[in-house]
Amino acid sequence: MLTNKKIILGVCGGIAAYKAIELMRLLTKAGAEVHVIMTRAAQEFIAPLTFQTLSSNPVHTDLFNLIAEREIGHISLADCADLFIIVPATANIIGKIAAGIADDMLTTTVMATKSPVLFAPAMNVNMFTNPIYQENEQKLRRMGYLFEAPVNGSLACGWHGEGKLAAPESVFESAVMALANKDLAGKTILITAGPTREEIDPVRYISNHSSGKMGYALARVARRRGAQVLLISGPTALANPDGVQVINVISAAEMQSEVNARVTACDVVIKAAAVADYRPVARNSTKIKKNAAVTTIDLVKNPDILAGLGGMSLRPFLVGFAAETDALAENAAKKLTEKNLDMIVANDVSQADAGFNVDTNRALLFFKDGSSRSCDLMSKDQLSMEILDQVVARLAVR
Ligand code: PMT
Repeated sequence: MLTNKKIILGVCGGIAAYKAIELMRLLTKAGAEVHVIMTRAAQEFIAPLTFQTLSSNPVHTDLFNLIAEREIGHISLADCADLFIIVPATANIIGKIAAGIADDMLTTTVMATKSPVLFAPAMNVNMFTNPIYQENEQKLRRMGYLFEAPVNGSLACGWHGEGKLAAPESVFESAVMALANKDLAGKTILITAGPTREEIDPVRYISNHSSGKMGYALARVARRRGAQVLLISGPTALANPDGVQVINVISAAEMQSEVNARVTACDVVIKAAAVADYRPVARNSTKIKKNAAVTTIDLVKNPDILAGLGGMSLRPFLVGFAAETDALAENAAKKLTEKNLDMIVANDVSQADAGFNVDTNRALLFFKDGSSRSCDLMSKDQLSMEILDQVVARLAVR
């Protein structure tokens, strides 16, 4: 996601400075090259050696270090940055930058950079709500600086309230957003995810192994690329992706009515949900007792939501999924035609590292024009990028 991106991580003096290590780990894991600048106060909390070891790059602490300046000084750092992240951003650093003060390595480099700058503030609640701080933050926001707002919680100073550093994962997500190509801006994408549950009685249901990971990855990546995303999700254990409107449903019937109510406002629909094909003819209103000796359950077919969309006269770009255990290509191609889709993502769910409830997937993509594309084993985020690349390219010529 961040391959070839150069990120300058500015670390300031606050008790949350240790969380910058976790953020740096997420950034480097995603492929970014991270260069750390620490303020003098930050070094009271964490030794520069920790960041140096984990980033594999020298840590910059001193504006007047002649050797480091000659090799990669503050201007070259400012010039090479694709993104600047300051975490934890103290009231002091935000005040200094808002006032145009450049008196150390960090403030000087921020002043000289043309890259986007993302602040993740962390401070005492009274400092955070102080009008002086608020005015500084608003001034920087107006100038286009980005902020990952702190959250409510117990603060190290003993107070409780706003001022706790946002989770490193949220700061990471904002960083990825700041760097992403916004080629889906202006598009509304509806994505379905997870399983559906068809209730037998108040304690039992028919369902499948879908975790929602594939659909949630698509929602996250589409949002990063600028789309307005509606996620209609069956029951999952996943956290809602930032900035995505999530509508929770249980059964196939509920999923169908939510999809149908929203489809006309959408440019693209991607159906990654594993919809139960059958439901019990009737749901027992009380728990079926063991001694009732019920050994069979009568089932009725659920409506095919995707096929219904394929039959619309004016329909959005439709992407289906095909979960197969055999004859992957043949079955997927059949579904593409029968459901009148623009594209189908075929995955072999019998493999341990693909399909249900894992973070990776491999897929064959088939298109309405008869072409196809193979995607080897990759993370579900990466596969989402591949799928959305195809959507963008094909929407452009539709
Ligand atoms: O959620 P994960 O654990 O990450 O797993 C991901 C996944 C394996 C669920 C996903 O990659 C996937 O394959 N999703 C589609 C599962 C499925 O229901 O496949 P299908 O071949 O039975 O259905 C074909 C298409 O028709 C699908 O887009 C499905 O959403 C849709 N469908 C199916 C039945 C039905 N009644 N209504 C539908 O809309």
